[in-house]
Amino acid sequence: MFVNRLRELSEMNTYLDMILSGQKLNLALFAQRRCGKTELLKRFRREARDLTIAPYLSMERISPSIEHFSLHFLTELVRTATGEEPVLTWPSLMIASQSLGKEVQNGIATLSTMMDRAEKDISAISEILFRLPQMVSDAKSLPVIYILDEFQEIKNIDDRILHLMRANTEKQRSVNYWVAGSVFTAFDDLFQGDSPFYGQFTRMELSRFDEGSTFELIDGLLPFFTSIENKKAIHRSTGGHPFYTTAICRRFHLMRDLTDQDDMATLRTSILMEVFDKTGAINAHLEYLLDVSLAKFRNISVHRNILLHLSEGPDNLSGISTFTGKLTGEVSNYMKGLLRTDLVTKEGDTYTLTDPLMGAWIKNRDRYPGEMPLIDISVRDKVFADLLERYSQVSTELGKAKEVELREILESIYEIKLRPYSTPDGQIEFDLIGEKDRIHIFEIKWRNRPLDIGVIKRFLSKVDRSIFSAQKPYLHIISKGGFDTKALKEAKKYRIECLDRSLKEVTK
Ligand SMILES: Nc1ncnc2c1ncn2[C@@H]1O[C@H](COP(=O)(O)OP(=O)(O)OP(=O)(O)O)[C@@H](O)[C@H]1O
Ligand SMILES: [Mg+2]
Repeated sequence: MFVNRLRELSEMNTYLDMILSGQKLNLALFAQRRCGKTELLKRFRREARDLTIAPYLSMERISPSIEHFSLHFLTELVRTATGEEPVLTWPSLMIASQSLGKEVQNGIATLSTMMDRAEKDISAISEILFRLPQMVSDAKSLPVIYILDEFQEIKNIDDRILHLMRANTEKQRSVNYWVAGSVFTAFDDLFQGDSPFYGQFTRMELSRFDEGSTFELIDGLLPFFTSIENKKAIHRSTGGHPFYTTAICRRFHLMRDLTDQDDMATLRTSILMEVFDKTGAINAHLEYLLDVSLAKFRNISVHRNILLHLSEGPDNLSGISTFTGKLTGEVSNYMKGLLRTDLVTKEGDTYTLTDPLMGAWIKNRDRYPGEMPLIDISVRDKVFADLLERYSQVSTELGKAKEVELREILESIYEIKLRPYSTPDGQIEFDLIGEKDRIHIFEIKWRNRPLDIGVIKRFLSKVDRSIFSAQKPYLHIISKGGFDTKALKEAKKYRIECLDRSLKEVTK
């Protein structure tokens, strides 16, 4: 089943049109782990099948030797171009490529003999290897879109491989590389280092699903009808992550068959089991991610401790240094390492765990080891509330770090304790509220364009519908991009305080 991704697919189809009209288009697709890169690429590949030659190779399963890579790379190319099914050997590849003509066959034969040498000449091999897709394209009179998944792994083959790939492919008119990967920072090296592939690649980032698409995915996965409340709870606890959603639905389906119950309590247990229990697919995924990420470090326990600290909330270098009892210089090195794993993200000078669900997982499994999820109901509800809270915090458009920073400044300006607010069903959310004399409610808009009257009206209506409406709360709106005239006039009418990006009051 494939849901959504209409925007991405239509963008990809535009790129496909460009390629078909003779332009060249390399694409780099990024997304967090398990967000649906592979699904999307495979789906696109189906659409491009008859119009192009579009081999797909995942670099993850390839051992990092030039011979292994070359053999896989060419086998996929020949398989896709001819429909033959060569096994992974050079002679089989030769036979399968017969219909592609002498030039291709000669290229493969030369490579095959080069592989026999003990000392492999990487640059001579690359020259032929990366020329072969162009030869195949010429032979079939079709453009090639070579899809390389988990592309960052290519670096392990040889230090020079990217440089060689670039040198041998940049002038090719009808060979395009579409690459994907999850580790953003690894990609940065790839595109910025000595071999700046960057600039030749169009970048595309894959986000999580919005509520509507998550509902669609849930409807497709569950063979029974489930309430809107349940669907909302799934979306809120996964933040629209397609793999998390899939795993939770599978468990919920199973639990319903076992217990004959499909109420919110059953769903909660299903979610917590998926996330925390040894049998949970999400638990296994997080366990794996943490293991492979930490395996890179010598001092695993310090790194693990820092992650545990960040699972309580974002923090800056001096906070982390106080927590670990280590000097900031040393901590800064640890943080650099963690940023490279992409488990941690930095905005301004604040560090946050990239995946909110991983944050809840690290914090709560440590707090209640071994008891999950057979813990008592009050603990279960607390853990569940923590899970929901995390995504409602990151779902604000300004991002975690900025939110923390703004909150601190506002707290000191107004001398008031502030917190995000949400009704249990998520229907009404305020960025920050606090109480001093009266309730203060803050709406924060962190976009570059001036805020318009619609935002003011929606804010007022939300306040009206909230439990605070009778208490005549103080209202404040902060807008990074300022306010347009009508919005300011409307705000004045209702005594809403308008603040700009530096939290200064705007009057005209
Ligand atoms: N568009 C989609 N429609 C339905 N299910 C999806 C979609 N995208 C992803 N999924 C679900 O999420 C799972 C993970 O997706 P996928 O393997 O494509 O992610 P990925 O980003 O390639 O992961 P990895 O980082 O492990 O390579 C899939 O097995 C599928 O169950
Ligand atoms: Mg993948």
